[in-house]
Amino acid sequence: MFDLKTFIEDCKKAVLSDQPQKQVKTLMEDAFSDPKALQQALEVASPGKSVAPLYSDENLTILRVATPANFLSPIHNHLMWAMIGILEGEEKNYLYRRTNDGLEVEQELVLKAETGIFSLRADAIHAIETPPGQEMCGLHVYGGNILQRSSRSVWDPETKEELPYNFEQLMGFAKTLSAERAAAG
Ligand SMILES: [Fe+2]
Repeated sequence: MFDLKTFIEDCKKAVLSDQPQKQVKTLMEDAFSDPKALQQALEVASPGKSVAPLYSDENLTILRVATPANFLSPIHNHLMWAMIGILEGEEKNYLYRRTNDGLEVEQELVLKAETGIFSLRADAIHAIETPPGQEMCGLHVYGGNILQRSSRSVWDPETKEELPYNFEQLMGFAKTLSAERAAAG
């Protein structure tokens, strides 16, 4: 049976080990082996919030993430590795690489419960999208304090300019992008 307190303690030890990503991935795979218990525990810990920190210190952040249907984020980076597990719905990831004149899509992949735990590299640059009609709910574990990490970037969807990250701006861009996406059908 999934227990959030135990999971947090295990992740705290895992991120200080010599194989943090491998160990956290195993912990997440164990947690997702009983998705109903996991979801219930997450809902008790953070009812109704879109992004809810369950734990954070300088080496580790654990977030419950609920993203509405038809959501499109601007391109952004994290500057730390992340493990992403999906409980409900799906999340399309666009992974970008830097080119001489900006960014280009390197890979597109759809994450869902069946695709297992996805490992996002520390240097990843990505945007996420949810399909119409179904919200996405997942668990993210980061190898650092994602809530306070400085020097992150968000890319202006219109001008393509790389800007210093801030959460309000990211959500503002996401609002515009998601509305455009919904209007385009
Ligand atoms: Fe992200």
